[in-house]
Amino acid sequence: MTQGDFDFFRGLIREISGIFLSDAKKELLKSRLSSRIDFLGCKDPKGYRKYLEGLPGDHHEWQELINLVTTNKTDWFREPQHFNYLIQEYLPRWKQNGHRELSVWSAATATGEEPYSLAMVLDQELRPPYSYKILATDIDTQVLEVAKNGVYSRSKLEEIPEPYRESSLLLGTGDISGWMKINPALKRNIKFEQFNLTESRCPRNFQFDIIFCRNVLIYFQKDVIHNVINLLYEAAAPGAMLFIGHAESLQNIKSGWKFIRPSIFLKSS
Ligand SMILES: C[S@@+](CC[C@H](N)C(=O)[O-])C[C@H]1O[C@@H](n2cnc3c(N)ncnc32)[C@H](O)[C@@H]1O
Repeated sequence: MTQGDFDFFRGLIREISGIFLSDAKKELLKSRLSSRIDFLGCKDPKGYRKYLEGLPGDHHEWQELINLVTTNKTDWFREPQHFNYLIQEYLPRWKQNGHRELSVWSAATATGEEPYSLAMVLDQELRPPYSYKILATDIDTQVLEVAKNGVYSRSKLEEIPEPYRESSLLLGTGDISGWMKINPALKRNIKFEQFNLTESRCPRNFQFDIIFCRNVLIYFQKDVIHNVINLLYEAAAPGAMLFIGHAESLQNIKSGWKFIRPSIFLKSS
């Protein structure tokens, strides 16, 4: 891939998704695009570039491109301190304040392990009269399909703490014994939708009490992080908590979020 073609692709990808590819990512981009280039019969990255340059703005190929360049790594109960904080500190306080329905946003949800982990916890912690709803969004439409489907390899079962397994999962038997499925009762509280964090408008009108926006800011440059973090602030209710990845920081980013501890922030009422 020539530097000119790389600059074209990275400019486009940043414009659409906010994802920034440094020079070191050239080989990675080349390999991510290669199967699509073969599939379309474009011969090489330059051919794919020419193909893209001739497309209208609403063509589905733009989404295909974004699906190829996102990194969707996730885990069950990833960064468990966040779940412990919710159980031990946030939810008791939230209940004491007289609330009834908790509104949660998992804003870079990938293949769904994050919102389902949250639902497993909330299902146990928020019995009637309490309830919860989770909005789970991602820019990548392919991972959202996996998330909606809710079927996962059973080899990951050990990552899910034992007390949540029985009520949340249906384990396959016979030919499908290598798979596990999210219990439909748990799915009922989660809505999956596509949402691009670099859009200027918040999804829906409601205000979230909890926002998980973890392990996505690392792909953005400072100006994009600033815009995203302020969008999340707008979408948050007074007293809401924001959780980002442990490898991420809001240092030198101007926003109303108040630092509570590394990777946890508060919207002061
Ligand atoms: C590494 S995964 C993190 C998944 C999960 N939050 C976790 O911490 O395990 C990053 C996700 O961010 C999504 N993403 C990247 N850019 C985005 C954007 N502009 N808007 C919404 N999601 C985005 C990717 O598609 C990917 O699924």
